[in-house]
Amino acid sequence: MSDDDRVPALAVQLHAPIVEKLVGAMPEPAGVVDAEGRVIVANRPAFALLPGLRLGEPLILALRTPNVIDAMRRVLATGEAETVPWSERVPIERLFEVCVAPIEDASGAVAAALLTLRDLTEQRRLERMRVDFIANASHELRTPLASMLGFIETLQGSAHGDAKARDKFLVIMREQGRRMARLIDDLLSLSRIEQKQHVRPEAAVDLAQLARHVADTLAPLAREMGVEIKIDAERAVMVTGDRDELLRVAENLIENAIKYGARQDGASADQVEIAVTRSASEGSMIVRDYGRGIAPEHLPRLTERFYRVDPGQSRAKNGTGLGLAIVKHILTRHRGRLTISSQLDRGSTFTAIVPLHPS
Ligand SMILES: Nc1ncnc2c1ncn2[C@@H]1O[C@H](COP(=O)(O)OP(=O)(O)OP(=O)(O)O)[C@@H](O)[C@H]1O
Ligand SMILES: [Mg+2]
Repeated sequence: MSDDDRVPALAVQLHAPIVEKLVGAMPEPAGVVDAEGRVIVANRPAFALLPGLRLGEPLILALRTPNVIDAMRRVLATGEAETVPWSERVPIERLFEVCVAPIEDASGAVAAALLTLRDLTEQRRLERMRVDFIANASHELRTPLASMLGFIETLQGSAHGDAKARDKFLVIMREQGRRMARLIDDLLSLSRIEQKQHVRPEAAVDLAQLARHVADTLAPLAREMGVEIKIDAERAVMVTGDRDELLRVAENLIENAIKYGARQDGASADQVEIAVTRSASEGSMIVRDYGRGIAPEHLPRLTERFYRVDPGQSRAKNGTGLGLAIVKHILTRHRGRLTISSQLDRGSTFTAIVPLHPS
């Protein structure tokens, strides 16, 4: 028996080394099965995705998904390519599109099939996010709009000519109109920041001066809420950034601390502490409050658009629920980050971190 006789007929027909190299060069999980459904070639991503995958063994041992296995059998039998979905829930939810393509031997018979898996998880997540976003934005606009229309109808109907009612309703209508305008402004700035996401800002901005400035502008709100602001930001900390955008970061964080940092019992004066510090490569603005804090299950979702711990409280304080989403986008664009630590009934610390300016 010569050496050639021991090489499986199929491998010869498929020029195995080339097939192996081609499949190996594919970026997505891929493999080839023979006419009996045994795995003869698979690439690294496939082994990583399917820990049970073994060369020479039936694919079904590694991938127990009836629709994929059935598709593979049909393709091997009919020679017609198919694409089927495959979703997994454990350990994490993932969605794939599996393409099964027939491979014919020299005589034209289907000798094998190439399976490629395309990961659609991220695409599906983005689609869902977009749909949720539109639903949320519409809902947020519809509530004040419905209220305004209700008042207009009342003024045209039962309250027609009632000067007292008119004055009262106009105040509410103006408030609702302002709320809609604020929401639209926030949505527009979010989309503007998103558009610029990949262009990194370059100017030198003094984070300490910026924090002092915002603390001054928010002093009236703090006074109104009975909150004392303490600021420790004497020395300049020059970071690389866009001044207007960093102003929004400071405004959102300090305003949140004032709005949500009030203690419920009112036993002692509420305090918000602002500090600006620097490390070797980064500048940080730390905003700390001693309010009711945020439960750990909310923390990972806080920067999602429209996410609020207590929607009623946020709306009552004229919040749109977009503030922290804007903060996160701005810091991402700055190649910086936001960290949040919080303890229920002890308060929260929000830290915006931005790379220093090289100068
Ligand atoms: N310092 C804080 N202490 C407690 N909860 C907070 C604090 N900061 C934010 N939160 C919670 O996070 C939610 C999201 O904050 P975010 O700034 O994104 O929205 P908002 O303040 O409701 O609206 P906007 O910022 O548009 O006025 C808030 O509704 C609030 O529940
Ligand atoms: Mg806010």
